[in-house]
Amino acid sequence: MNDKLIDATQPYSGYLRKPATQENVELTHVDKGTPCGEYLRRFWQPVAMSSELTDIPVAVDLLCEKLVLFRDKSGRLGLLDRHCSHRGTSLEFGLIREQGLQCCYHGWHYDVDGRILDIPGVPEGEDYRKTFCHGAYPVREFHGIVFAYLGPPEKIPEFPVYDFLAFPEQDLHPVRWDSPCNWLQVRENTQDSIHTSFLHTMFGVPQFGPWYYQLPVIQWTETPVGQVTVTTRDTHGRLYARVNEIILPNFARVPEGHSAGGDKSGSYMPSPRGRGMSLWVIPKDNVNCSMIGWFHFTPEQSPELRAWILKNTSLGQYEDRPLEERKRYPGDYDAWVSQGKISIQANEHLCKSDGAIALYRVQLRKGIRAVQEGKDPKGVVRGAHKPIQTYANNMFEAGNAGKQEDDAKQKMLFDFGQRAMKRTLDCEFDVSGNSTETKAAGD
Ligand code: FES
Ligand SMILES: [Fe+2]
Repeated sequence: MNDKLIDATQPYSGYLRKPATQENVELTHVDKGTPCGEYLRRFWQPVAMSSELTDIPVAVDLLCEKLVLFRDKSGRLGLLDRHCSHRGTSLEFGLIREQGLQCCYHGWHYDVDGRILDIPGVPEGEDYRKTFCHGAYPVREFHGIVFAYLGPPEKIPEFPVYDFLAFPEQDLHPVRWDSPCNWLQVRENTQDSIHTSFLHTMFGVPQFGPWYYQLPVIQWTETPVGQVTVTTRDTHGRLYARVNEIILPNFARVPEGHSAGGDKSGSYMPSPRGRGMSLWVIPKDNVNCSMIGWFHFTPEQSPELRAWILKNTSLGQYEDRPLEERKRYPGDYDAWVSQGKISIQANEHLCKSDGAIALYRVQLRKGIRAVQEGKDPKGVVRGAHKPIQTYANNMFEAGNAGKQEDDAKQKMLFDFGQRAMKRTLDCEFDVSGNSTETKAAGD
């Protein structure tokens, strides 16, 4: 219990409460030079979806920096400081050229790497062309998403290749949702796995299967790349474990949840590991962030089913509906944005089901310390590497917890969760992404 709230021990004690007003600066502020800002800058981060790039530049806010993203007429991507080095006009009004971008005000012409190609009207030798470069960052485009590295040039890592990107016949569908609040409260929603039963089932628009009316048994553990949260429930007389994953520092994979025990009609159908979502939460600044990533579809999913999944899963992820409707049927966006511009952790009262969130904060602090000590934090990739093992999956086992008394049911689900967690860490699932069927212990 936070001692600042210790006076509030009686009913009607609103006046006596002394809530903290200071956010957790270490984990929430991301300006250049801040602990978490420097940590996040050691990784390739998503900037925008490729579909956002047209024939005009795009203003981008990223990690408290004001930038401009564009594709020049020769097809190369550039991510430049937004304000022109001459007199500060925004390069979002710049003209895209065969090579680079030209400022609209007096024509300074920049290449995608920040080199100054031309300063019109000033004789060569009298201009700045060779004396400095405009600010620029390296950019990569990958499966419809543009990524950038904003850290120290000498620390640039390899672009990470994850195992799920090699799953056969997988369609990656890029998505982006923005929220006007700090990045951490949005990211922590993934580890807050009990909220699927409340916000997404009993209170809001039901977005998962009928088994989500049960409160799950929740367990969590570290993995070589981050952590997993294992939630176990009984579905149609089978045990079901949903394994959500955090890949440090700000990336998450969630297996398909709504049809894990069946399609919309509720019939049983194992959900391939290749389905679900992979989403980064990337700060624009300290009080705004974006979720950017992919839906993963597999060939047997019809266009109609994909459209239904996109609509159903997107619901409530951004300011998508009128306020009154959102109050009657709130979604994730309403939960995390209403926590405040930057949620004050010192005023929280975390309980047992929040253990994965507490673990995540510990892991973030470890990553921050590693950077401060001059080391590579967990997850940074150097040199040629095999596809990085990830752990999100759906797991099933024979068993009918629903027929048990409460205590026995909890134990059955807990024990299954223990087995599911071990199998997850041992990668005892189909690593090709095709199937998640596993045999019951002793089968
Ligand atoms: S302000 Fe951009 S060229 Fe002058
Ligand atoms: Fe949610």
